[in-house]
Amino acid sequence: MVQAIGIIGAGQMGNGIAHVAAQSGYNVVMVDMNPASLEKALKTIDKNMARQVEKGKLSEDDKATALARITTTTAMKDVASCDLVIEAATENEEVKKKIFRELDETLPANAMLASNTSSISITRLAAVTTRPEQFIGMHFMNPVPMMKLVEIIRGLATSEETYQRVVEVAERMGKTVATSEDVPGFIVNRLLLPMLNEAAYALQDGVADVKSLDTAMMLGAGHPMGPLTLADFIGLDTCVAIMRVLHSELGDSKYRPCPLLVKFVDAGWLGKKTGKGFYDYSDPANPQPYR
Ligand code: NAI
Repeated sequence: MVQAIGIIGAGQMGNGIAHVAAQSGYNVVMVDMNPASLEKALKTIDKNMARQVEKGKLSEDDKATALARITTTTAMKDVASCDLVIEAATENEEVKKKIFRELDETLPANAMLASNTSSISITRLAAVTTRPEQFIGMHFMNPVPMMKLVEIIRGLATSEETYQRVVEVAERMGKTVATSEDVPGFIVNRLLLPMLNEAAYALQDGVADVKSLDTAMMLGAGHPMGPLTLADFIGLDTCVAIMRVLHSELGDSKYRPCPLLVKFVDAGWLGKKTGKGFYDYSDPANPQPYR
């Protein structure tokens, strides 16, 4: 049974995965090459757990126990005692391949490797290791402590045993699993991003204004957030990057990024994180459509 989990990368996703893993009883070793990221991750986890305590979802004692299960380090070799290592480092294929080569050399033969990548082929990452049958995709959603889904992605060589063991880990973390083939975008991004891209096309084509498009999908399709608001939340640069991956890897013109979306990115209007996208967030409580 998996008892200790290594996490590579202590950014937005890494700290969320460490949070739920520690809270679910796993010992966690969190690695980042940047000590400042580790410090920030621990502060974020502490703050997010404090919020759970305030809401009565976690006791002070359980919070302290969970935090005590997390150790941080800048040395990759410190994950040597982990049964499973989940990589959540920067979305760059060469960076990830280097990490997996090093993990493959460091870890005992029975340890499993997982990547949280959004767009890189699991089969291709697995191929740089000597254990592709023990390699799998574990795609958590942001913010990890709040979102129930984990997409599990089997590479071409992933064994049934690895799949079953990793599903068990995800379920012990309180998550629900959806299993995807190793294809660009997996399930969620394959369906969601073309919808957001289409909303940008609808705006470009003058079908309706920003507010009407969002309102229509919220009240007419039951979405909790309109597509343009959601695109701003994800980051318009991220949306374009995912569309480019779908377009180039699937080779179908239906995935071409909307020119208006690309124009927003060219302007540096990347959505909520830059204060401006389809909406202007100068007054965060009352975002205004850009025009
Ligand atoms: P981030 O930029 O917040 O964090 C990445 C961290 O990795 C940084 O702290 C960086 O110092 C560290 N890092 C980079 N190279 C490293 C190395 N060689 N060794 C150790 N640490 C290293 O990125 P974020 O958003 O957390 O994304 C991480 C992964 O999760 C990416 O693969 C991304 O595609 C995926 N993902 C992101 C989602 C999101 O909404 N942000 C959602 C689902 C998956």
